[in-house]
Amino acid sequence: MRTCAIVGARRARCQAGRECVAVCFAAMSRIETMQTTRLLLRPWREEDGVELQRLFTDPDVAGGRSLPADRIARLAESSVRQWRANRFGPWAAIDKVTGAWIGRIGLDALDDWPGPDKIEVGFELHKAWWGRGLATEGARAALEFGFECKGLERIISVTAAAHAAARRVMEKAGLTYRGTRYWMNPDVPVVWYGIDRAAWTAREAAPAFRAL
Ligand SMILES: CC(C)(COP(=O)(O)OP(=O)(O)OC[C@H]1O[C@@H](n2cnc3c(N)ncnc32)[C@H](O)[C@@H]1OP(=O)(O)O)[C@@H](O)C(=O)NCCC(=O)NCCS
Repeated sequence: MRTCAIVGARRARCQAGRECVAVCFAAMSRIETMQTTRLLLRPWREEDGVELQRLFTDPDVAGGRSLPADRIARLAESSVRQWRANRFGPWAAIDKVTGAWIGRIGLDALDDWPGPDKIEVGFELHKAWWGRGLATEGARAALEFGFECKGLERIISVTAAAHAAARRVMEKAGLTYRGTRYWMNPDVPVVWYGIDRAAWTAREAAPAFRAL
């Protein structure tokens, strides 16, 4: 049983009565910013475009993707547009302790993805922040946000088949492998992972430990 981040009620109590669920959901659907243990995740702003350009100038972050400045600018614009149109989209991830801009994490509409489910959870962090579990922490928050606050039924995530770190983040966040295909680049196979609302709910309800 977890605490509802928005109205402060225990989730199991919220599920006990319909009225409570409705109130809880109405409150939750207005949520846009989330906090995790270490991250502040806030809606993307126009000025984050400058940070995104800086992020992708690191070739290790770009990871072989062709990301000229105009393409990065379009990514940033799309992030702002998604928030305006859907009331969700990618977050800017901020370190709670220092206020540092860490990267882009969160729900992202992959309009060109050739499958029926187009909302992905994505994550791109400055290298200095890798290897601390932050992408997984942010991805889990994005799943909770998508399922509990935005009523999504399935969330996917797509990466290059060879990108072991991104695949591991997806697995740790609870997504499972769904398939491999070519998309955008005919030389680079991509894998996609997914998680449904039911699987996410079951995973969240499972005890975190068991007695020996
Ligand atoms: C992918 C990325 C988001 C991961 O961020 P992160 O905060 O380091 O991720 P986490 O610490 O939550 O988890 C990473 C996991 O991958 C594992 N990992 C890292 N590099 C790996 C590698 N080369 N091979 C196998 N596993 C690897 C880590 O050990 C960790 O798993 P563990 O907890 O079981 O040990 C980060 O490297 C990044 O921003 N890369 C550049 C942008 C990018 O490629 N984004 C994904 C686009 S699809």
